[in-house]
Amino acid sequence: MKNFYSVYDVENVNALVKRCHEIKNDPFGNREKGKNKLLVLLFFNPSLRTRLSTQKAAYNLGMDVICMNMAEGWKWEMEDGSVMKFETAEHVKDAARVISSYADIIGVRTFPTLKNKTEDYKDKVINALMKYSTVPIVNMESSILHPLQSLTDLFTIREKKGNKSLKVVLSWAPHPKALPQAVSNSFLQWMKVVNINVTICNPAGYDLDPSFTKGHHIVHSQNEAFNEADVVYVKNWSSVETYGQFLPHEKDWMITKEKLDKTNDALLMHCLPVRRNVVISDDALDSDNSVVIEQAGNRAIAAQAILENLLE
Ligand code: CP
Repeated sequence: MKNFYSVYDVENVNALVKRCHEIKNDPFGNREKGKNKLLVLLFFNPSLRTRLSTQKAAYNLGMDVICMNMAEGWKWEMEDGSVMKFETAEHVKDAARVISSYADIIGVRTFPTLKNKTEDYKDKVINALMKYSTVPIVNMESSILHPLQSLTDLFTIREKKGNKSLKVVLSWAPHPKALPQAVSNSFLQWMKVVNINVTICNPAGYDLDPSFTKGHHIVHSQNEAFNEADVVYVKNWSSVETYGQFLPHEKDWMITKEKLDKTNDALLMHCLPVRRNVVISDDALDSDNSVVIEQAGNRAIAAQAILENLLE
């Protein structure tokens, strides 16, 4: 693997998930692999899980880590040939090559503006880093994809439910702020690669981009979706059609224990952070269906599998 931008960088997804199982059983078995290697993590946006789990993964491999909050750094210019007379102080072309001279692997988190879909969906920052960096780039959530989360999600589903045929539901839920579509887009990509046809349920106006929903099934009723579900993955996303906007929606889309009781004893999954009693009720989050804490714990396993692969 040269970079880890999306599922399509992974040669064999099932082998990678198998490797996650092995790492979970023996997290320190490869401690020499990253010796004298440096991971640099660039955060343009906040994080708890991604930052800590990726650092933990690197330490388990014997790597050193430097994290940089990019709000404290120079503002980057992204356009080639621009005359940099205004806000931007450093071109990504230079920054990428400088960071590459220090780092053996670079991770980056860079959220969308949610103002202009065409621009956001170009995923400019991470694509520029992949273009100009001379070391591997790890996507720690870009404008449109969150593959470290999705590998975790697939691993967690396999760990809990095995390889049997499953009804997997991706359910939209309410949130007080407009959120990116990256987690959901990425989840759908990974599920498609392992031939899981996801039932996506969201209110009208919240359909995800067709390039990600293709091959899956969209319904606009949670009742219909949850019937016989083995996995309910919950996530809010802002509208794609009316890009980045809140639309008027039914507040009863919140996930509750009563709704989970209508499933096939489904796993309740969420990438976290989650707003309790807005997105998911306490009684659902604290129920036996919920695997959200273990899912978050698995972030370190997935990150370790990816870093190990990139160190090859
Ligand atoms: N799920 C996830 O990426 O969490 P953080 O935003 O806290 O990193």
